[in-house]
Amino acid sequence: MKIIAYGIRDDELPYVKDWEEKNPDVDVKVVQELLDDSTVDLAKGYDGAVVYQQKPYTASVIDKLAADGVKYMSLRNVGVDNIDIDAIKRNGITVTNVPAYSPEAIAEFTVTQLMRLLRRSRTFDRKQTEGNLTWAPDIALELNQLTVGVYATGRIGRAAIKIYQGFGAKVIAYDVYRNPELEKQGIYVDSADDLFKQSDVLSLHAPATPETDHMINKSTLNEMKDGVYILNPARGALVDTDALIHALDSGKVGGAALDTYEDEVGIFNKDWGSFDAIPDGRLKNLMERENVLVSPHIAFYTETAVKNMVVFSFDDNKSLIETGTAQNIVEFES
Ligand code: COI
Repeated sequence: MKIIAYGIRDDELPYVKDWEEKNPDVDVKVVQELLDDSTVDLAKGYDGAVVYQQKPYTASVIDKLAADGVKYMSLRNVGVDNIDIDAIKRNGITVTNVPAYSPEAIAEFTVTQLMRLLRRSRTFDRKQTEGNLTWAPDIALELNQLTVGVYATGRIGRAAIKIYQGFGAKVIAYDVYRNPELEKQGIYVDSADDLFKQSDVLSLHAPATPETDHMINKSTLNEMKDGVYILNPARGALVDTDALIHALDSGKVGGAALDTYEDEVGIFNKDWGSFDAIPDGRLKNLMERENVLVSPHIAFYTETAVKNMVVFSFDDNKSLIETGTAQNIVEFES
């Protein structure tokens, strides 16, 4: 059995080697390049492909992959928004993802960033470097006094709720699919609008879909409390960046922690050498604000998560090749 793994980073390599040692019946080819038109033919002769990238899996790449005989594609991440679904269906390719490599990694990071915002960490860090050890006017807020609105209560949203509750915050949530345990706690509000109106902090944990595209926009921001905090560790597409910048300017939004950004592909996870060299004015506008924390999509990036992403995706790819089925098959809506 032969598996090709695209886009393998150095930090993933030890886990790939470890998996290979435990699965000597599988011939694994590791390539650093991402899966695109120029690299797809490397997959010829392989039974399955393990992949991770944020740039699109285009129809042309998927058509070529299928023409090369690869019918099983296992993502090392959770999001499937960069896949041409029509091409997947047309070619009868089965896709798996890793929905739970570590929901806690993302939840912990999200709450960490919120605490940094509430305790004005960026400001105090800067003041220290200027020799300024004063307190005022940078008085903080306490999470235990706030209402946190969690949008979407999948695994990550639920992991975040546990932490928020541990801090003593009042948590409310909205999701079209209600989790029975949370339902028992009575934390669901009836609509996204209710969530927006009642929350001091909005914690977004939804995938990118046509329904969630720019769900944070001029009109929804207007519904929110003055000084609301927006946390987006999910997908950049959820937030209309221009509307957010406007709301930060007016003070409507008190702070934001953005681990994702709508134009991040090609910008995040690259060393630009200097702040000035970053080729995105809107992003730099956000990065320059002390009440905004921009991070380059690192909420997931822990040893536990990276190991699980590798192991679960390789296990699923092998299982697909052997049996035609696997633990985490993605059911694309028709
Ligand atoms: C995902 O798993 O879809 C993520 O957003 C994390 C990714 C950057 C590896």
